Amino acid sequence: TTITWDSEMAEKGGYDHFMIKEIYEEPQVIKDTLSEADKVHEIVKKFKKFDRIYFVACGTSYHASLVGEYLIESQIGIPTEVILASEFEYFQKTLDDHTLVIFLTQSGETADTIKALKIAKQKSETLAIVNVVGSSITREADHVIYTRAGPEISVAATKTYISQLVCIYLLVGYLGENQEILTKLEEVPEYAEELLDSENQIEQIAKKYKDSKDFFYIGRGFNYPTALEGALKLKEITYIHGEGYPAGELKHGPLALIDKNIPVVGILPPGSSYMKTYNNLEEIRARGADMIILGASDDKMIFDIEDKILFDPDIDEILAPLLYIIALQLLAYFISVEKGIDPDKPKNLAKSVTVE
Ligand code: G6P
Repeated sequence: TTITWDSEMAEKGGYDHFMIKEIYEEPQVIKDTLSEADKVHEIVKKFKKFDRIYFVACGTSYHASLVGEYLIESQIGIPTEVILASEFEYFQKTLDDHTLVIFLTQSGETADTIKALKIAKQKSETLAIVNVVGSSITREADHVIYTRAGPEISVAATKTYISQLVCIYLLVGYLGENQEILTKLEEVPEYAEELLDSENQIEQIAKKYKDSKDFFYIGRGFNYPTALEGALKLKEITYIHGEGYPAGELKHGPLALIDKNIPVVGILPPGSSYMKTYNNLEEIRARGADMIILGASDDKMIFDIEDKILFDPDIDEILAPLLYIIALQLLAYFISVEKGIDPDKPKNLAKSVTVE
């Protein structure tokens, strides 16, 4: 007998789906994007004077932008705001020549983002962080940084999110002249490899919770966007309702929804926000919710939690968004597969949306 391979099987390189292949490419994507460091540095040197930053994006790129906001405000202190591209026109009167507007887009073809760029460039300096070389956005922006993730076939963005974050960390490193961040970034590919080795543990959790109707994802600070992006991945490829929430805000409303049928994914890396997040998660646990905790492997406070995804305790809290999200991408992927859904082709969604 002969085994016939169609071209799609060949492209998947032995993986069941493009999504899981693309997740496994992440350590390499991090290295490739880090090799753009000098180019990022050159662009930063060319910036005109600015005292405010806007990020403009949609979907997953919007969540990467939110990590950018937390990093820039906390590490450099420049006032920064993230605006959804489809809402940008309502902010246009605030644009001026000392605002830098950063556009994040994987495809470089998202209609809402192109429209916003056309508005912004009339008054402000613009930078686009883009994956697809030569795409529409790259021709309009004043400066372009490429994310070097390679082609992403799966509709749900995974490795491109990681590459966008790496670009943002580089930007923060050079803008803030923060050599420490730039040096720490070098450790990330290895941590990412380590995490991918714990795939089995995440698959077991997926099996256990695949029939849940709602999930909450809870994080604080840099990892509030991680919670949002984890919930988006779940919605996109499992059709389960998932809601990302800042840990401290749950008590102002959504706590009313929590009961034992709702799994709560708590993002709990060691660091300055640890204790507060821990206490917020305890409040949720007391309502009987099932907890899935992402935390450090040496964290004694979470020893008695049954469902855990464990990370290297040496991961700096600043870098946690780059690593913790990988576990949430895998969780959504395995739930999708368990439910018999094709994660590469979610219903109603397109890889790039070219209408406003
Ligand atoms: C679509 C895709 C999302 C993506 C968003 C923004 O909705 O399904 O995965 O995050 O567009 O795309 P962009 O190419 O601008 O990053």
